[in-house]
Amino acid sequence: MATDLTRPSHAAPDWTVAQDWHSYSAEEHTVWDRLFARQAEMLPARVVPAFMEGLDMLRMTKPGIPDFDELNARLSDATGWQVVAVPGLVPDEIFFEHLANRRFVAGRFIRTPEQLDYLQEPDIFHDVFGHVPLLVHPVFADYMQAYGEGGLRAAKLGMIEALARLYWYTVEFGLIRDGSDLKLYGAGIVSSYGESVFALDDPSPNRIGFDIERVMRTRYRIDDYQQNYFVIDSFEDLLRQTRDTDFGPIYERLRDRDAIDVGDLLPSDRILHVGTQAYAKAGVRA
Ligand SMILES: [Fe+2]
Repeated sequence: MATDLTRPSHAAPDWTVAQDWHSYSAEEHTVWDRLFARQAEMLPARVVPAFMEGLDMLRMTKPGIPDFDELNARLSDATGWQVVAVPGLVPDEIFFEHLANRRFVAGRFIRTPEQLDYLQEPDIFHDVFGHVPLLVHPVFADYMQAYGEGGLRAAKLGMIEALARLYWYTVEFGLIRDGSDLKLYGAGIVSSYGESVFALDDPSPNRIGFDIERVMRTRYRIDDYQQNYFVIDSFEDLLRQTRDTDFGPIYERLRDRDAIDVGDLLPSDRILHVGTQAYAKAGVRA
């Protein structure tokens, strides 16, 4: 999400562009295949089962960067969602408008072979591999639409920052209970080899039960692995909490209260794991 962007001349008023699938080079397809193979081997034991089912249902195991036309034929049959290509970051309200209409915006570029492990701006591997498989899950699909609708309301109230934190700690970096285990579902995690291990196994980050207001007060970091992960009980519970919550009073309270720093814990937190924060303190990447 972003503000103060200028729409490139080749983009439509809703900022979409053609994917132009035939213009991808062999090297670009190979980058996708390398990233895909690595994640597909590691994720089955770690990710929420619905993610693997989505990969399968959308036939994303087919080699090469997915062609959005093929992907959309299956995706729209499943839940009515579509993937649309955009030139890069888009303005917040454009982003919310697409989500509210069941369109997921995806960058069309892919990282270089030198960037396999880390890049800050989302590419097609993050956007499509990370986000799209769960869009075939009916409840998660409804949550994404509800989020977009909430975003449009938040934009009118000047509360986008708070709502962006909800996206960050669920859609991008969420964990979910699976019996007595935790599993991954956030796209920022599942599209990252390193964070797919770190988020579940490393003693460093806090793992905290999901609470909408807590999440919307919590700062996050865009430059490194997260210091907090919030754990939902189920997609049904996430959708219910999002739909049943009156965001108006939360926004009023948020206007008067400071944000919570990354890594801080509150007495009211439902803590599953107190992180050592050793990784963050070591400042490995920063
Ligand atoms: Fe993302």
